[in-house]
This record gives sequence, C-alpha cells and structure tokens, in this order.
Amino acid sequence: METTYVMIKPDGVQRGLIAEIMGRFERKGLKLVGLKSVVPSQEIAETHYEVHNERPFYPGLIKFVTSGPVVCMAWSGKDAITVARTLIGATNGREANPGTIRGDFGMDMGFNMIHGSDAPETAAFELGLWFPEGLMEWDQTITAWVYE
Ligand code: RTP
Ligand code: MG
Repeated sequence: METTYVMIKPDGVQRGLIAEIMGRFERKGLKLVGLKSVVPSQEIAETHYEVHNERPFYPGLIKFVTSGPVVCMAWSGKDAITVARTLIGATNGREANPGTIRGDFGMDMGFNMIHGSDAPETAAFELGLWFPEGLMEWDQTITAWVYE
C-alpha cells in the first residue's frame, strides 16, 4: 500500500468543488488517512513548491496557493500515487481528458484545482510537510471488497 498527498487548491474550494473532488477519491476505493483545511502560510507554500522556485510562474503560484483555504488530504491504496494522478489528469485543464478532475472542471494551467504527489519521494516529503502530526491508522471494512 502506498500513500499520496492530494490537495484541493484555493480555486477548487472557491468554486465549491470540495465534495465533488473528494467523492471521486472515495468512490475509487482509496482510503482517507489524513484530512484538514488550512490557509497555507508563505513558508509552507514555498517549501511545497520549492522544485519550481526558478520557474517564471513560481511567484504567481505561491500567491495563488496562499490566497485562501486549501483541503489537505492523504489517500492510501495500491499504487495510490499513480491512481491519484490518473484521477486528476493533465496539468492543463484544456488538455486533460474528460473523466479526469481537471478534464471535467478545468480550463487553465495555473488554476487547475488540485495537486497530487508525483513520486514516492515527493509523497513522503509532502505528507511530512502538511501532516507533521501524522496520519490516521484505521481498518476500512470495504477494503475487503475493493481488492480481491
Ligand atoms: P501539481 O504539482 O500541482 O499536482 O501539478 P502538476 O504536477 O500537474 O504540475 P507541475 O509541473 O508540478 O506544476 C505545479 C503547478 O504549477 C502551476 N503551473 N503553472 N503557468 C504555467 O506554465 C504553470 N506551469 C505549472 C500549476 O498550478 C501546476 O499544477
Ligand atoms: Mg507537480
């Protein structure tokens, strides 16, 4: 089992898409092991996006992600990182496939509503950053019906 960090960005919250987005992860069969909503500090946003700090879009990205509440989630399951990225879709909503979150609701590159970790190392880094208190350990009864 793998755990990934997923975050609904301020545009997803502003647009009233929290339940719609979370529902897709729930219905897929992923298990929720972390959940909270915060207005990200400058520091946490800069640390989260530090790989992009030389890119031209970085200042705008930090301003955007600190502009209001985000929903921080940790989802676990088999290949959870890839499964979440598949549900999320391509970075630019105009190019993302229908059926994906960005493909169904997005029209933009920057305002793309959601973040998902892209590799095991980034997932571990991002989970530690956003959930320093740790994650929930629980037995989900439906798991027995999700995996053979
Ligand atoms: P994310 O990290 O948010 O899950 O998105 P991603 O992997 O699909 O995209 P990534 O390349 O990691 O870029 C991080 C976020 O930066 C914004 N971005 N803007 N204007 C631009 O050219 C541009 N490129 C990237 C997006 O909000 C993207 O999600
Ligand atoms: Mg990324």
